[in-house]
Amino acid sequence: VAKARAAAPAKIILFGEHFVVYGNPAILASINRRITVTAKKSRDGGKVKIKSDIASGEFDGSTFRLIEGANARATLEPLYYAARQALDDKKQQKGGLEIEIKSDIPYGVGLGSSAAALVATIAAVESLLGRADKKKVCESAIEAEKIIHKNSSGADCFVSTFGGMMHYSKGGGFKKVEAKTKLFLVIGDTGIKHNTGDLVSSVRKLKEANQMAFSGLMSQSRDICNQALAALNSGNTEHLGMLMNENQLLLERLGVSHEKADDLIDVARRAGALGAKITGAGGGGAIIALAASKEDSERIASAIKETGQGAFEVEIDTKGLVLG
Ligand code: MEV
Repeated sequence: VAKARAAAPAKIILFGEHFVVYGNPAILASINRRITVTAKKSRDGGKVKIKSDIASGEFDGSTFRLIEGANARATLEPLYYAARQALDDKKQQKGGLEIEIKSDIPYGVGLGSSAAALVATIAAVESLLGRADKKKVCESAIEAEKIIHKNSSGADCFVSTFGGMMHYSKGGGFKKVEAKTKLFLVIGDTGIKHNTGDLVSSVRKLKEANQMAFSGLMSQSRDICNQALAALNSGNTEHLGMLMNENQLLLERLGVSHEKADDLIDVARRAGALGAKITGAGGGGAIIALAASKEDSERIASAIKETGQGAFEVEIDTKGLVLG
């Protein structure tokens, strides 16, 4: 094959972010926003060129030349590492690659754009060189994600690869969750880019400074997750919304919320959201709100937009990684 393509979805975490790093369960879902990666073999043996909407660079193993883009190194280095690894695995050490990335996921706000970019890049390179296996793609993406933040729970890569709504834990892997009723969800974007690694480290410091309090929060988060699973299975969206609000209180206790996120959560609740919380690592980033109906979700999205921030309604994606 001369060219191969793969697309991987963004994600939302409905319950359990941060606590999932320490083995707790989380409930998350892939959403209908994607990153599409095209990989081509190049004649420039040994060189990997990566071009995305936000950054581009050229790598030859020893030098790393950024062509453009703010924060390009942090964005591109894990992708380069993953592409190189895929070449090595397929015994193509001397092969050259051109990788093109197109994204409709707002980046750096907790919607899993970096995991989706890794999953789609690895899958595109593997299909270019042979056959891409989802399980293997997911494992390699988690490995490469450790460059971004070394304590990754793997949740983002799992959901972007396998898709749908899932109950996930580090030790237990994932189980699909079938929601009894359709969920009307809205994302609000604070526009404040965060660094997942820094936020995960700040939570680790808090945990180390106060083990007792942290284990109390862990058990509350586990309890919220279990109740949420029951609410999803029975279609009790009102209870689900309340649990999202409770989850937000725990995130505030972890210190990962943000004034601007708190404002958007407030706007969403006043516009009729059943519940709202940060989704992902926090520190700004994105919030997610649950609505009772399509009309309510439209109203919540408009109310957030009126504050000058980005908002959009989301659907749960069921496909995950798609090849070709
Ligand atoms: C980031 O999307 C979610 C965190 O729980 C980190 C992780 O699971 O690796 C904050």
